[in-house]
Amino acid sequence: MPQAGIEPALPAPEAGALSPELLGRTERLYPAYPHNSPGWIGGMSLLSDLTQRFGDAFAAVGVDRSAGLVVPSQRPELAQYQCNGALGAAKRIGRNPRDLAQEVIDALDDRSMFDQLDIAGPGFINITVTDDFLAGYAEAMEHDHRLGLAEPDPRHKVIVDYGGPNMSKSMHVGHLRASIIGESLKRLLRLSGHAVDGDIHMGDWGMPIGQLIIELERRQPDLPYFDADFTGPYPEESPVTLDDLSEMYPIVVERCKNDPEEAERARRATFDLQNGRPGYLALWRHYRDVSVAEQKKDFEALGVEFDLWRGESTVHERLATLVDRLMNDDGLARESDGAIVVDVERPDDKKEMPPLLLTRSDGSYLYSTTDLATLDQRVEEGYDLILYVVDARQGLHFEQVFRAARLSGIAPDTVGLEHIAFGTVNGPDGTPFKTREGGVLRLADLMKIVTDAARARLDEAEIAQDYPPEEREQIARQVGLAALKFGDLSNHRTSNYVFDLDRFTSFEGKTGPYLQYGAVRIKSILRRANEAGIEPGPIIAPTIEQERGLILRLLRFPEVIGRAVDVRAPNVLTEYAYEVATDFNRFYEACHILREEDPQRQASWLSLVDLTLGILTISLETLGIEVPERM
Ligand code: ARG
Repeated sequence: MPQAGIEPALPAPEAGALSPELLGRTERLYPAYPHNSPGWIGGMSLLSDLTQRFGDAFAAVGVDRSAGLVVPSQRPELAQYQCNGALGAAKRIGRNPRDLAQEVIDALDDRSMFDQLDIAGPGFINITVTDDFLAGYAEAMEHDHRLGLAEPDPRHKVIVDYGGPNMSKSMHVGHLRASIIGESLKRLLRLSGHAVDGDIHMGDWGMPIGQLIIELERRQPDLPYFDADFTGPYPEESPVTLDDLSEMYPIVVERCKNDPEEAERARRATFDLQNGRPGYLALWRHYRDVSVAEQKKDFEALGVEFDLWRGESTVHERLATLVDRLMNDDGLARESDGAIVVDVERPDDKKEMPPLLLTRSDGSYLYSTTDLATLDQRVEEGYDLILYVVDARQGLHFEQVFRAARLSGIAPDTVGLEHIAFGTVNGPDGTPFKTREGGVLRLADLMKIVTDAARARLDEAEIAQDYPPEEREQIARQVGLAALKFGDLSNHRTSNYVFDLDRFTSFEGKTGPYLQYGAVRIKSILRRANEAGIEPGPIIAPTIEQERGLILRLLRFPEVIGRAVDVRAPNVLTEYAYEVATDFNRFYEACHILREEDPQRQASWLSLVDLTLGILTISLETLGIEVPERM
């Protein structure tokens, strides 16, 4: 349920015209992250317009205007919208809610846009607007290049930290959600008008690198990287491939677990690397280069784009200063058995809150140190909202880092810090998704699996069969990715979900391929209309129920984007996109555009088709799903 407590500020629109005041308003209908976190910027929206009108009416009868929140009706057969504010307000001031509701209706400034205003039950106000009013809004939206969203407002600088692959390991299914959800959130925030950067934040500076150094030394001790007296230059060619590293990594991890001497050696190597031992640095560069080359390919195939290719190592020069500052200036850090820690627990903590580790007893730095230093850098660079799209299992880590950042003043209160947690992808048996052999599935292999499944579906449905082979292959890839992404994003990010390839790739039901196909079909309708010489024209008052239903759905677009941004949840948008597609199908079945005899009506319907395509395309794009030209 939406929450109350808004400050609506939208002026009345003139039917058919987009008033400039409608744009650029800051308003939040669904404030999930209040206070300093950027949410929806606002825009041209029927719901916020109605909310404004009812807010004014409540204010006119002496009640706080927040009671004026208007929401879509719970019983669409009775009304389009409803306002429930009279109930709570009447209770607070000790009045009869139905009487108050009537007073509010009487106090409405202008009632010409309402077709129906009823008081229902204990005091809900049921609202239906006139068809002319609806048409005016739809027409304005069709001519607005932002589809009703406010113009970009770069006042807030947001950074989305997502993907986060670790150097020296192939990306696997675990990185899938971070990449898909992060990319979509980044696009949502950008679409709603904020200035947003996506940062991959690679894991490239911790113990795993030390482990890989000692493993290579064990295998090839004669390489110059391990000779402390070597003065260079080091070879240009990497001594290992990413496959080598992936093979080496689990072996050395296992050995370190069982052999304290090996573990000690890995810690030592990590420390030496972090303190700039030239041979290790040269080797680290090779490890990084082979990893990044492969990861760039993986992310490109996945349609995930980063603005910043930074990593833990990016801040390595800040680490010593940061620890020193926390230790000496702030007096916040303390020594504990040779390690340096920051206490972050609070008296009211319900669960155990261990101190944040800044250095190990040997002086080497950790994941938490690089995260705190990175946060410091991001604040310095002027970001005022930092989103970490990371597995829910890292919740404690982020809680500790955020607390340390607040205590030390690294992150002032004006900077929003949010861990955007997500659950796991499970196999049919309900445990984390594995290959048939029981290993973790590599991302590249997963992509092949979904593309193969998509190709089989296309053959089965006889779609795109007579296209040139390259185009067909491209479509299979796009459909496979749509299946994968929609299958993931349509679950609320915090829930675990079962990877069900069969369901995800189906052209029926709530799936990526269904929506993609729907959008392609709309393109072909527009093409055929164009060939028949039909031109889109002004959107006129709807007369058919399915037509009205589609308009009402399309008009919700700006709010849906606002809500998805406010609650940081792409599944709000997957749900909406599905509803747009099904409402369109109903409309298209009821309104025979190509055969319509009234040219004005036909032109109006064609504009609605065009508006639907615009909204569906931008919605899918925001979910990271591409729409082929034809299929
Ligand atoms: N590399 C980390 C991992 O694989 C994820 C990084 C997430 N971002 C961060 N700022 N800690 O678990």
